[in-house]
Amino acid sequence: MNVLIIGSGGREHALAWKIAQGKQLKNLYCMPGNPGTKAIATNLPGDIKDFRAIEEQILAHDINLMVVGPENPLVDGIRDYFAQTQPNLLVVGPDKKGAALEGSKEFAKEFMMRHNIPTAQYRTFTAETEKDAFMYIDAIKPPYVLKADGLAAGKGVIITSDIEEAKLELAEMFRGKFGAASGKVVIEQYLDGIELSVFVLTDGKDYMVLPEAKDYKRIGEHDQGLNTGGMGSVSPVPFANQAFMAKVKSRIIEPTISGLRAEKIDYRGFIFIGLMNCHGEPYTIEYNVRMGDPETESVMPRITSDLLRHLTAAAKCELGTEKIEISSDTAVTVFAVSGGYPEHYGKGYPVCGLDAASKECIVYHAGTKEGDRQILTSGGRVLAVTALGKDIQCARQKAYKALSNISYDKIYYRKDIADDLINYKVEQ
Ligand code: AMP
Ligand code: GLY
Repeated sequence: MNVLIIGSGGREHALAWKIAQGKQLKNLYCMPGNPGTKAIATNLPGDIKDFRAIEEQILAHDINLMVVGPENPLVDGIRDYFAQTQPNLLVVGPDKKGAALEGSKEFAKEFMMRHNIPTAQYRTFTAETEKDAFMYIDAIKPPYVLKADGLAAGKGVIITSDIEEAKLELAEMFRGKFGAASGKVVIEQYLDGIELSVFVLTDGKDYMVLPEAKDYKRIGEHDQGLNTGGMGSVSPVPFANQAFMAKVKSRIIEPTISGLRAEKIDYRGFIFIGLMNCHGEPYTIEYNVRMGDPETESVMPRITSDLLRHLTAAAKCELGTEKIEISSDTAVTVFAVSGGYPEHYGKGYPVCGLDAASKECIVYHAGTKEGDRQILTSGGRVLAVTALGKDIQCARQKAYKALSNISYDKIYYRKDIADDLINYKVEQ
């Protein structure tokens, strides 16, 4: 079978790495891909916002299955487009209605309310109800959590304990701080706990739970400083033990799948549930309609069964008999970024040491491009290094050893990825 992966980041390189091992695979393509995917697949040029351009490539390369990496094409209706134009194409990714679980925070919260899925208390406001929003802020306790309703490239959430700042931010959001995405704002109760990323693959009826992961979002060690696209990840997560995951399944995953069915949403693809573990009780923070980045980089190497087979079954609505197999090893991913990221940083620096780093680890490309003779940096998050080991300590040691081989001007990475979990015991 011929497979096309849409996207160009570390997540897509990780999906390509795993799908490339699929028994039924004939040819693997990525659009547009990156220098890492180029080593294991054929990169196809094109703008992933242009569905017609994607269709041309699908026809030219006789693609059977398309896996959509990022959320934007899904929210823009890529599945619906191909359902109309290429009904035989198998697609991993929900339709536009399903993608609204990520595309609109208000829709997601209302969905959770309708199906009794635990989440933070909230209210939604617009510029017209700004006065009510200020009164609501006066009435609730800090910290205040303000969320732009629409997609804002992961930047649309503001958390502050300063009431004046909360009001100022809210006013700015209504006045277009995140463009149309913040025309509507969800204000919700702050959840105090530890976060977990749970990944589900569903065909709308049945589902399988992929390895869970934890990501490290802040630029600085001990979770200090600005938010980033993700500085590292770890899987499995010690507190996601059987008892906790049983609650996640019965209170969140199953009501989500049955809610989708009840609302006649034809969901075939990944559901990424961002949740908070509050003293052992899971609360849904958000849904994403794709895999997480940098979680995918840790999750993929732990799947020992054939992901391509699972994806094909999900896209065909035949997930029923599929069984996922998962390694008990721990995966630790550390992202090497450009100095200055997530603010101002330089690009175009030659990258050295990739071969040495790849000997015992997987090195995924994210923000790189091909230069004349060498790989160059081309973005904030440059490379993700993933190591597998028998426990967190072994995996992180391997990942950091591999990273010490990599160099480019102003390289930066956090040295504390997964440290906070080392002393957790995995209870079965
Ligand atoms: P979201 O885009 O909804 O995932 O929010 C981005 C990040 O903000 C989450 O990953 C959490 O770290 C944090 N966050 C979101 N909502 C809450 C909440 N209600 N309480 C505490 N932290 C939150
Ligand atoms: N790691 C969080 C995300 O992919 O949204």
